[in-house]
Amino acid sequence: MGKIILSCSGSGGTGKTTFAVNLSVAAARQGLNVLLLDLNMGRRNADIYLGMEDRILFDLGDVVSGLCKLDKAIICHDLCPGLSLLSCPQYREIDGLSPGHVKALYNVLRNRFDVVIVDCPVSVTGILRTFACGADAALMLAVPDHSSVRNTEALCEKLEELGVAERYYAINRIDRQYSDSDNIPGVNYITRSINAPLVGMVSEEPGIHISNNSGIPAALADGSDIARRFADIASRII
Ligand SMILES: Nc1ncnc2c1ncn2[C@@H]1O[C@H](COP(=O)(O)OP(=O)(O)OP(=O)(O)O)[C@@H](O)[C@H]1O
Ligand SMILES: [Mg+2]
Repeated sequence: MGKIILSCSGSGGTGKTTFAVNLSVAAARQGLNVLLLDLNMGRRNADIYLGMEDRILFDLGDVVSGLCKLDKAIICHDLCPGLSLLSCPQYREIDGLSPGHVKALYNVLRNRFDVVIVDCPVSVTGILRTFACGADAALMLAVPDHSSVRNTEALCEKLEELGVAERYYAINRIDRQYSDSDNIPGVNYITRSINAPLVGMVSEEPGIHISNNSGIPAALADGSDIARRFADIASRII
């Protein structure tokens, strides 16, 4: 049975999609059969980060409305064997998508994939309830901001309440030009605040931003430090 892992955060722009994409690539390169499920309804972008935006003919909305079978909406990545993408609609929500529907979808997908990484929209309430239903694990993305740290603490509590058994976090966009004296939360402060295991840290890297925009995930760069970092995090959470 495959594992369903949410890539989530309590604040926007912390790196949920970057991590979902690069951890999916890393896991596929470790020989796993991986699905990246983009649930950012109306504002998906994992397809752009993966360089697959021109290949999506059908999405989850089409499956739910009966326009196509699930297989038609799942597409394989050209450069990364073992990695597939299932997108949500680009310009609309899927009406009436309930926690029960999502749980049923997860159950279908966990029979077909070793791991499903779910790129979630930012949420600590509301829609989080829908995506968390039936998920096995959550990777929470925090950045060194007091607001992000506080929202991650809140998210962690909410995920526990919602029954997500494994909860981890990673710190993204660490910028070494700042120190604790600048009132920017440092790694020690963050680890004291968030009640979950820390599974990795990624610096502010122009290369990651360029990779996302060029559609060639940073984790594909053989032997690079950043590819190794994502591979290590993938090994810890899967
Ligand atoms: N470690 C990093 N170094 C440099 N840029 C990064 C890094 N991580 C993410 N980014 C950039 O930060 C922006 C936000 O990243 P991303 O889209 O992954 O965040 P998100 O949490 O998915 O955002 P949203 O809440 O909008 O879904 C993007 O422009 C991305 O390229
Ligand atoms: Mg995103």
